Amino acid sequence: METKILKDNQIQEAASILKEGGLVAFPTETVYGLGAMATNESAVKKVYQAKGRPSDNPLIVHIDSINDLTPFVENISSTSQKLMNYFWPGPLTMIFKIKEGTLSKSVTGGLDTCAFRMPDKQMTRELIRLSGPLVGPSANTSGKPSPTTAEHVYHDVHGRIEAILDGGASSVGVESTVVDLSDESQVVILRPGKISRSDLEKVVDIPVVYDKHLVGESEIPKAPGMKYKHYAPDVPVVIVKRPEDFAQAISYYHGKHIALLASQEIINQCGKHVAGAYVLSQKRDVEAAANQLFAGLRALDDSKYDVILAEGYSSESGIGTAYMNRLQKSAGKHYFEC
Ligand code: TXA
Ligand code: MG
Repeated sequence: METKILKDNQIQEAASILKEGGLVAFPTETVYGLGAMATNESAVKKVYQAKGRPSDNPLIVHIDSINDLTPFVENISSTSQKLMNYFWPGPLTMIFKIKEGTLSKSVTGGLDTCAFRMPDKQMTRELIRLSGPLVGPSANTSGKPSPTTAEHVYHDVHGRIEAILDGGASSVGVESTVVDLSDESQVVILRPGKISRSDLEKVVDIPVVYDKHLVGESEIPKAPGMKYKHYAPDVPVVIVKRPEDFAQAISYYHGKHIALLASQEIINQCGKHVAGAYVLSQKRDVEAAANQLFAGLRALDDSKYDVILAEGYSSESGIGTAYMNRLQKSAGKHYFEC
Protein backbone atom coordinates (compact mmCIF):
# COMPACT_ATOMS: atom_id res chain seq x y z
CA MET A 1 0.00 0.00 0.00
CA GLU A 2 1.04 3.60 -0.62
CA THR A 3 1.50 5.56 2.66
CA LYS A 4 0.04 9.07 2.28
CA ILE A 5 1.57 12.07 4.03
CA LEU A 6 -1.27 14.28 5.31
CA LYS A 7 -0.94 17.93 6.40
CA ASP A 8 -2.83 19.91 9.04
CA ASN A 9 -5.67 20.75 6.59
CA GLN A 10 -6.31 17.02 6.04
CA ILE A 11 -7.21 15.96 9.60
CA GLN A 12 -10.71 15.00 8.44
CA GLU A 13 -9.23 12.57 5.90
CA ALA A 14 -6.97 11.07 8.60
CA ALA A 15 -10.01 10.56 10.85
CA SER A 16 -11.97 8.87 8.03
CA ILE A 17 -9.13 6.38 7.45
CA LEU A 18 -9.08 5.56 11.18
CA LYS A 19 -12.87 5.14 11.32
CA GLU A 20 -12.66 2.67 8.44
CA GLY A 21 -10.19 0.57 10.46
CA GLY A 22 -6.98 1.93 8.89
CA LEU A 23 -3.72 3.00 10.56
CA VAL A 24 -2.56 6.62 10.73
CA ALA A 25 0.64 7.74 12.49
CA PHE A 26 0.11 10.98 14.39
CA PRO A 27 2.42 13.62 15.88
CA THR A 28 2.63 14.34 19.61
CA GLU A 29 4.84 16.60 21.72
CA THR A 30 6.90 13.52 22.78
CA VAL A 31 7.28 11.24 19.72
CA TYR A 32 5.04 10.12 16.83
CA GLY A 33 2.42 7.47 17.65
CA LEU A 34 1.09 4.69 15.41
CA GLY A 35 -2.65 5.25 15.61
CA ALA A 36 -5.64 2.96 15.36
CA MET A 37 -9.10 3.25 16.93
CA ALA A 38 -8.79 1.80 20.43
CA THR A 39 -12.22 0.16 20.18
CA ASN A 40 -11.54 -1.56 16.83
CA GLU A 41 -9.78 -4.81 17.71
CA SER A 42 -8.75 -5.81 14.20
CA ALA A 43 -7.25 -2.35 13.59
CA VAL A 44 -5.33 -2.60 16.90
CA LYS A 45 -3.93 -5.99 15.87
CA LYS A 46 -2.59 -4.44 12.67
CA VAL A 47 -0.59 -1.97 14.79
CA TYR A 48 1.42 -4.84 16.30
CA GLN A 49 2.08 -6.26 12.83
CA ALA A 50 3.15 -2.91 11.37
CA LYS A 51 5.67 -2.38 14.19
CA GLY A 52 6.75 -5.99 14.65
CA ARG A 53 5.84 -5.54 18.33
CA PRO A 54 5.57 -8.45 20.81
CA SER A 55 1.88 -8.98 21.54
CA ASP A 56 2.24 -8.97 25.35
CA ASN A 57 3.28 -5.31 25.31
CA PRO A 58 0.20 -3.17 26.03
CA LEU A 59 -0.62 0.11 24.30
CA ILE A 60 -1.34 3.64 25.48
CA VAL A 61 -4.83 4.99 24.70
CA HIS A 62 -4.72 8.65 23.64
CA ILE A 63 -7.71 10.77 24.62
CA ASP A 64 -8.92 14.28 23.94
CA SER A 65 -10.80 15.02 27.16
CA ILE A 66 -11.03 13.61 30.68
CA ASN A 67 -14.62 12.53 29.84
CA ASP A 68 -13.13 10.04 27.34
CA LEU A 69 -12.03 7.97 30.36
CA THR A 70 -15.59 7.39 31.60
CA PRO A 71 -16.46 4.35 29.45
CA PHE A 72 -13.27 2.55 30.47
CA VAL A 73 -12.17 3.61 33.96
CA GLU A 74 -14.01 2.66 37.14
CA ASN A 75 -12.47 4.81 39.78
CA ILE A 76 -10.35 7.95 39.60
CA SER A 77 -8.51 8.62 42.88
CA SER A 78 -7.96 12.15 44.15
CA THR A 79 -4.23 11.78 43.38
CA SER A 80 -4.99 10.83 39.76
CA GLN A 81 -7.38 13.75 39.49
CA LYS A 82 -4.71 16.16 40.71
CA LEU A 83 -2.15 14.79 38.25
CA MET A 84 -4.57 15.04 35.35
CA ASN A 85 -5.59 18.57 36.23
CA TYR A 86 -1.99 19.65 36.50
CA PHE A 87 -0.21 17.77 33.71
CA TRP A 88 -2.83 17.06 31.02
CA PRO A 89 -2.62 17.77 28.20
CA GLY A 90 1.05 16.80 28.41
CA PRO A 91 3.73 14.10 28.51
CA LEU A 92 2.31 12.07 31.42
CA THR A 93 0.78 8.61 30.92
CA MET A 94 -1.35 7.25 33.76
CA ILE A 95 -2.28 3.61 34.29
CA PHE A 96 -5.78 2.91 35.57
CA LYS A 97 -7.71 -0.20 36.47
CA ILE A 98 -10.34 -0.61 33.74
CA LYS A 99 -13.94 -1.82 33.68
CA GLU A 100 -13.80 -5.45 32.62
CA GLY A 101 -14.37 -6.08 28.92
CA THR A 102 -14.29 -2.45 27.83
CA LEU A 103 -10.99 -2.72 25.95
CA SER A 104 -9.69 -5.71 24.01
CA LYS A 105 -6.80 -7.90 25.07
CA SER A 106 -4.81 -6.49 22.16
CA VAL A 107 -4.90 -3.06 23.82
CA THR A 108 -4.20 -4.17 27.40
CA GLY A 109 -1.95 -7.18 26.73
CA GLY A 110 -4.35 -9.13 28.94
CA LEU A 111 -3.80 -6.88 32.01
CA ASP A 112 -6.74 -5.51 34.03
CA THR A 113 -5.27 -2.02 33.62
CA CYS A 114 -4.77 0.40 30.75
CA ALA A 115 -2.46 3.36 30.14
CA PHE A 116 -4.04 6.69 29.10
CA ARG A 117 -2.56 9.97 27.94
CA MET A 118 -3.86 13.31 26.65
CA PRO A 119 -1.26 14.63 24.20
CA ASP A 120 -0.42 18.33 24.10
CA LYS A 121 -0.73 18.88 20.36
CA GLN A 122 -3.71 20.70 18.91
CA MET A 123 -3.95 18.85 15.57
CA THR A 124 -3.73 15.47 17.29
CA ARG A 125 -6.42 16.34 19.80
CA GLU A 126 -8.63 17.41 16.90
CA LEU A 127 -7.96 14.08 15.20
CA ILE A 128 -8.97 12.21 18.39
CA ARG A 129 -12.09 14.39 18.71
CA LEU A 130 -13.13 13.30 15.21
CA SER A 131 -12.13 9.61 15.41
CA GLY A 132 -12.45 8.67 19.10
CA PRO A 133 -9.68 7.42 21.45
CA LEU A 134 -6.60 6.10 19.63
CA VAL A 135 -4.01 3.54 20.61
CA GLY A 136 -0.55 4.91 19.87
CA PRO A 137 2.67 3.08 20.51
CA SER A 138 5.71 4.95 19.27
CA ALA A 139 5.61 4.68 15.45
CA ASN A 140 9.04 3.06 15.03
CA THR A 141 9.93 -0.48 14.03
CA SER A 142 10.10 -2.40 17.32
CA GLY A 143 13.60 -2.12 18.86
CA LYS A 144 14.61 1.08 17.00
CA PRO A 145 14.74 4.67 18.31
CA SER A 146 11.32 6.34 18.51
CA PRO A 147 10.42 8.70 15.64
CA THR A 148 10.37 12.44 16.23
CA THR A 149 9.52 13.47 12.64
CA ALA A 150 7.13 12.25 9.92
CA GLU A 151 10.21 11.29 7.87
CA HIS A 152 11.38 8.91 10.62
CA VAL A 153 7.95 7.26 10.63
CA TYR A 154 7.95 6.96 6.84
CA HIS A 155 11.41 5.37 6.92
CA ASP A 156 10.29 2.67 9.38
CA VAL A 157 6.73 1.75 8.41
CA HIS A 158 5.92 3.07 4.93
CA GLY A 159 3.93 0.59 2.88
CA ARG A 160 2.46 -0.89 6.08
CA ILE A 161 0.16 1.97 7.20
CA GLU A 162 -2.38 4.08 5.32
CA ALA A 163 -1.12 7.54 6.28
CA ILE A 164 1.08 9.79 8.41
CA LEU A 165 -0.27 13.06 9.77
CA ASP A 166 2.72 15.41 9.54
CA GLY A 167 2.92 17.83 12.46
CA GLY A 168 6.62 18.70 12.22
CA ALA A 169 9.33 17.76 14.73
CA SER A 170 8.28 16.73 18.26
CA SER A 171 9.04 19.39 20.87
CA VAL A 172 10.02 17.08 23.76
CA GLY A 173 11.69 14.24 21.84
CA VAL A 174 11.50 11.43 24.45
CA GLU A 175 8.38 9.44 25.32
CA SER A 176 6.02 10.34 28.15
CA THR A 177 6.59 9.61 31.83
CA VAL A 178 4.52 6.50 32.68
CA VAL A 179 3.07 6.30 36.21
CA ASP A 180 1.16 3.50 37.89
CA LEU A 181 -1.55 4.66 40.28
CA SER A 182 -3.07 1.30 41.14
CA ASP A 183 -1.54 1.40 44.66
CA GLU A 184 -3.25 4.38 46.27
CA SER A 185 -0.46 4.86 48.83
CA GLN A 186 2.21 5.80 46.25
CA VAL A 187 2.85 6.94 42.68
CA VAL A 188 5.21 4.54 40.88
CA ILE A 189 7.25 5.80 37.90
CA LEU A 190 7.50 2.93 35.39
CA ARG A 191 9.23 4.95 32.67
CA PRO A 192 11.00 8.30 33.23
CA GLY A 193 10.15 11.18 30.87
CA LYS A 194 10.10 14.97 30.75
CA ILE A 195 7.84 15.16 33.81
CA SER A 196 10.33 14.26 36.52
CA ARG A 197 9.95 12.74 39.94
CA SER A 198 10.31 16.16 41.58
CA ASP A 199 7.66 17.65 39.21
CA LEU A 200 5.27 14.92 40.38
CA GLU A 201 6.20 15.37 44.05
CA LYS A 202 5.21 19.02 43.87
CA VAL A 203 1.64 18.05 42.93
CA VAL A 204 0.78 14.98 45.01
CA ASP A 205 0.92 14.43 48.76
CA ILE A 206 1.87 10.73 48.69
CA PRO A 207 5.37 9.34 47.97
CA VAL A 208 6.62 9.19 44.37
CA VAL A 209 8.96 6.22 43.79
CA TYR A 210 10.71 4.59 40.83
CA ASP A 211 9.68 1.07 39.79
CA LYS A 212 12.22 -1.40 41.18
CA HIS A 213 13.68 -2.24 37.76
CA LEU A 214 14.79 1.38 37.27
CA VAL A 215 16.82 1.05 40.48
CA GLY A 216 17.89 -2.62 40.62
CA GLU A 217 19.51 -4.44 37.67
CA SER A 218 17.83 -7.81 38.12
CA GLU A 219 14.24 -6.66 38.73
CA ILE A 220 11.60 -7.29 36.06
CA PRO A 221 10.00 -4.04 34.88
CA LYS A 222 6.30 -3.57 35.54
CA ALA A 223 5.82 -1.81 32.18
CA PRO A 224 6.15 -4.81 29.84
CA GLY A 225 7.76 -2.69 27.11
CA MET A 226 10.72 -1.76 29.28
CA LYS A 227 12.14 -5.29 29.20
CA TYR A 228 12.70 -5.41 25.44
CA LYS A 229 15.77 -4.32 23.50
CA HIS A 230 15.06 -0.74 22.58
CA TYR A 231 16.32 2.39 20.85
CA ALA A 232 19.25 0.46 19.38
CA PRO A 233 20.83 1.47 16.07
CA ASP A 234 22.76 -1.23 14.16
CA VAL A 235 26.00 0.71 14.82
CA PRO A 236 27.15 0.06 18.43
CA VAL A 237 26.73 2.98 20.84
CA VAL A 238 29.21 3.74 23.65
CA ILE A 239 28.40 6.34 26.31
CA VAL A 240 31.19 8.74 27.25
CA LYS A 241 30.46 9.70 30.83
CA ARG A 242 32.28 13.04 31.09
CA PRO A 243 33.01 15.64 28.37
CA GLU A 244 36.73 15.58 29.24
CA ASP A 245 36.89 11.84 28.40
CA PHE A 246 36.04 12.25 24.68
CA ALA A 247 39.67 12.77 23.59
CA GLN A 248 40.73 9.55 25.27
CA ALA A 249 37.74 7.63 23.93
CA ILE A 250 38.63 8.76 20.40
CA SER A 251 42.24 7.60 20.78
CA TYR A 252 41.00 4.27 22.23
CA TYR A 253 38.94 3.69 19.05
CA HIS A 254 41.78 4.87 16.78
CA GLY A 255 41.56 3.21 13.34
CA LYS A 256 37.77 2.82 13.57
CA HIS A 257 35.23 5.04 11.82
CA ILE A 258 33.92 7.02 14.79
CA ALA A 259 30.74 9.12 14.87
CA LEU A 260 30.16 11.65 17.66
CA LEU A 261 26.74 12.28 19.16
CA ALA A 262 27.48 15.25 21.35
CA SER A 263 27.22 18.98 21.96
CA GLN A 264 28.77 21.42 19.47
CA GLU A 265 31.43 22.31 22.06
CA ILE A 266 32.72 18.73 22.13
CA ILE A 267 32.46 18.36 18.34
CA ASN A 268 34.49 21.58 17.93
CA GLN A 269 37.23 20.17 20.15
CA CYS A 270 37.34 16.60 18.80
CA GLY A 271 35.53 16.65 15.45
CA LYS A 272 38.61 16.63 13.21
CA HIS A 273 39.60 13.17 14.44
CA VAL A 274 36.32 11.43 13.59
CA ALA A 275 34.37 10.28 10.52
CA GLY A 276 31.07 12.02 11.34
CA ALA A 277 29.07 13.90 13.96
CA TYR A 278 25.54 14.91 14.97
CA VAL A 279 24.99 18.01 17.11
CA LEU A 280 22.78 17.21 20.12
CA SER A 281 22.91 20.76 21.52
CA GLN A 282 25.04 23.90 21.20
CA LYS A 283 26.41 24.08 24.73
CA ARG A 284 26.03 21.15 27.14
CA ASP A 285 22.26 21.14 27.77
CA VAL A 286 20.41 17.95 28.63
CA GLU A 287 16.95 19.20 27.64
CA ALA A 288 18.13 20.10 24.12
CA ALA A 289 20.10 16.83 23.96
CA ALA A 290 17.00 14.80 24.91
CA ASN A 291 15.06 16.55 22.16
CA GLN A 292 17.64 15.47 19.54
CA LEU A 293 18.71 12.07 20.93
CA PHE A 294 16.51 9.81 18.77
CA ALA A 295 17.04 11.90 15.62
CA GLY A 296 20.80 11.72 16.23
CA LEU A 297 20.83 7.95 16.80
CA ARG A 298 18.93 7.54 13.53
CA ALA A 299 21.15 9.94 11.56
CA LEU A 300 24.35 8.13 12.67
CA ASP A 301 22.95 4.63 12.10
CA ASP A 302 24.97 4.22 8.91
CA SER A 303 27.23 1.35 7.91
CA LYS A 304 30.02 3.84 7.21
CA TYR A 305 30.51 4.15 11.00
CA ASP A 306 31.92 1.49 13.35
CA VAL A 307 30.97 3.11 16.65
CA ILE A 308 28.88 6.02 17.96
CA LEU A 309 30.39 7.86 20.95
CA ALA A 310 27.50 9.53 22.78
CA GLU A 311 27.57 12.25 25.42
CA GLY A 312 26.54 11.18 28.93
CA TYR A 313 24.72 13.37 31.47
CA SER A 314 23.80 12.98 35.12
CA SER A 315 20.78 10.73 35.48
CA GLU A 316 20.04 12.12 38.93
CA SER A 317 17.31 14.62 38.13
CA GLY A 318 14.95 16.28 35.66
CA ILE A 319 14.92 15.10 32.05
CA GLY A 320 18.47 13.72 32.61
CA THR A 321 16.87 10.61 34.10
CA ALA A 322 14.88 10.01 30.88
CA TYR A 323 17.81 10.91 28.60
CA MET A 324 20.15 8.44 30.34
CA ASN A 325 17.45 5.74 30.53
CA ARG A 326 17.01 5.85 26.72
CA LEU A 327 20.72 6.26 25.95
CA GLN A 328 21.68 3.33 28.22
CA LYS A 329 19.19 1.11 26.41
CA SER A 330 20.52 2.16 23.00
CA ALA A 331 24.08 1.42 24.20
CA GLY A 332 23.22 -1.81 26.03
CA LYS A 333 24.79 -0.03 29.08
CA HIS A 334 28.17 0.15 27.31
CA TYR A 335 30.30 2.94 28.81
CA PHE A 336 33.72 4.38 28.09
CA GLU A 337 35.38 5.31 31.35
CA CYS A 338 38.92 6.53 31.86
O1 TXA B 1 5.07 9.52 24.66
C1 TXA B 1 4.55 8.42 24.56
O2 TXA B 1 4.15 7.78 25.54
C2 TXA B 1 4.37 7.84 23.13
C3 TXA B 1 3.42 8.78 22.38
C4 TXA B 1 3.11 8.31 20.99
O3 TXA B 1 2.27 9.00 23.14
N1 TXA B 1 3.87 6.50 23.17
C5 TXA B 1 4.66 5.45 23.59
O4 TXA B 1 4.02 4.23 23.54
O5 TXA B 1 5.81 5.58 23.97
P1 TXA B 1 4.80 2.86 23.65
O6 TXA B 1 3.77 1.82 23.39
O7 TXA B 1 5.97 2.86 22.75
O8 TXA B 1 5.25 2.75 25.15
C6 TXA B 1 4.27 2.54 26.18
C7 TXA B 1 4.94 1.97 27.42
C8 TXA B 1 5.46 0.57 27.19
O9 TXA B 1 6.69 0.41 27.90
C9 TXA B 1 4.34 -0.31 27.79
O10 TXA B 1 4.84 -1.56 28.22
C10 TXA B 1 3.87 0.55 28.94
O11 TXA B 1 3.93 1.88 28.46
N2 TXA B 1 2.47 0.24 29.31
C11 TXA B 1 1.36 0.39 28.55
N3 TXA B 1 0.26 -0.05 29.20
C12 TXA B 1 0.67 -0.49 30.41
C13 TXA B 1 0.01 -1.07 31.53
N4 TXA B 1 -1.31 -1.27 31.55
N5 TXA B 1 0.78 -1.41 32.61
C14 TXA B 1 2.11 -1.21 32.59
N6 TXA B 1 2.80 -0.63 31.56
C15 TXA B 1 2.08 -0.30 30.48
MG1 MG C 1 7.94 2.61 22.08
